[in-house]
Amino acid sequence: MSKKVTLYVVLTALIIAASALTACQPAAETAAPAAEAAPAEVAAPAEEAAPAEASLAVGIVLPTKDEPRWIQDETRFKDALTTAGYDVEILFSQGDSAKEKANVESLISKGVKILIICPQDGTAAAAAAEEAAAEGVKVISYDRLIRDTTAVDYYVTFDSIAVGAQQGQYLIDNATGTGNPLYLYAGAASDNNAFLFFEGAWSVLQPKVADGTFVIKNSSEAVTLQDKAELTRDEMSKIIGQVSTNWDFNTAKNLAEANLTATTAADKGEVFILAPNDGTARAIADAFGADTDVTKYYVTGQDAEIASVQYIIDGKQSMTVWKDVRTLVSDAIAAAVALLEGNTPNASGAYDNGAKEVPAIQSAVVTVDKNNVMSELIDSGYYEASQFTGLE
Ligand code: BGC
Repeated sequence: MSKKVTLYVVLTALIIAASALTACQPAAETAAPAAEAAPAEVAAPAEEAAPAEASLAVGIVLPTKDEPRWIQDETRFKDALTTAGYDVEILFSQGDSAKEKANVESLISKGVKILIICPQDGTAAAAAAEEAAAEGVKVISYDRLIRDTTAVDYYVTFDSIAVGAQQGQYLIDNATGTGNPLYLYAGAASDNNAFLFFEGAWSVLQPKVADGTFVIKNSSEAVTLQDKAELTRDEMSKIIGQVSTNWDFNTAKNLAEANLTATTAADKGEVFILAPNDGTARAIADAFGADTDVTKYYVTGQDAEIASVQYIIDGKQSMTVWKDVRTLVSDAIAAAVALLEGNTPNASGAYDNGAKEVPAIQSAVVTVDKNNVMSELIDSGYYEASQFTGLE
């Protein structure tokens, strides 16, 4: 098959996938109507051909199989692309930047034109991105930003500052009076998103620490900085250094237990916990739930992982921030299509990665708690009611 035909088929498959996904989105989130119009003229040849060569046009690298969040992304990519008869290769880095680089090299050697990559470590991934760019591969940073390199063409993300702000706001909305114990936890310092989430949370929580609503219990660095409304990256690093979960269940559990051991009964009672994501929220909730001096806890999360949605239904986790992965996948595919066509993908803004302003498209996030699990996660078709018990 000629190169031209291969590219044509790839585009066709991707456009169909993008269109199918677009059709799934609620009206407010639907992207340019152009995607709806495209398949009519181009659909037929794709069905005839469904070529093996086409499978190598796009390669996807995700950080780890060990967190349900990234299995969600794998599933949604597969749903979108294989439905269109397109065999995409998705590789996992298993928390290892060296494996990530080897994955990228393997995809380059197979001739990918577009690399969609969610870096394990935002800075370490720069080398892999540069290797891809040197071979003429376009690099789409997916969910997490690759830092300190110009070898990133585009960034597809959720509004990560809003994620943190919604977590912080949830705690505020449930607190009354003053002196409420506040425990802060963060993601991995190697992940740029950990800073964005913390920045968003701090933006709403700091005024409530300053006015006495909350008292920070587990970070001396945060206490030192508690009168500063806006923190520099270095200042955030200091706090994150004390309260990082490293996105790891066991690290989160051990840290929470250590914090509970270091504090007294007077620092407990009804407590408020900023947990950065669902995996760590469940670990931290288990630790706080087991402490007899904790009479009630509010704990945040994000990702709407199935296990956490069940925790929310069971009253063990207070909320999650739902990031509809279907939207992210759809945006990534639309960007891949545009880049394959030699066009500029739609961008709604840009993110400074330390070396360039990376054009970005970002999508909205939704707070989910017991009250709206049904309307947001089930009625939207994201999950099925049968995946949970005790759902009303
Ligand atoms: C993602 C979160 C995820 C976390 C841990 C972040 O970069 O945005 O959705 O929970 O990494 O994998």
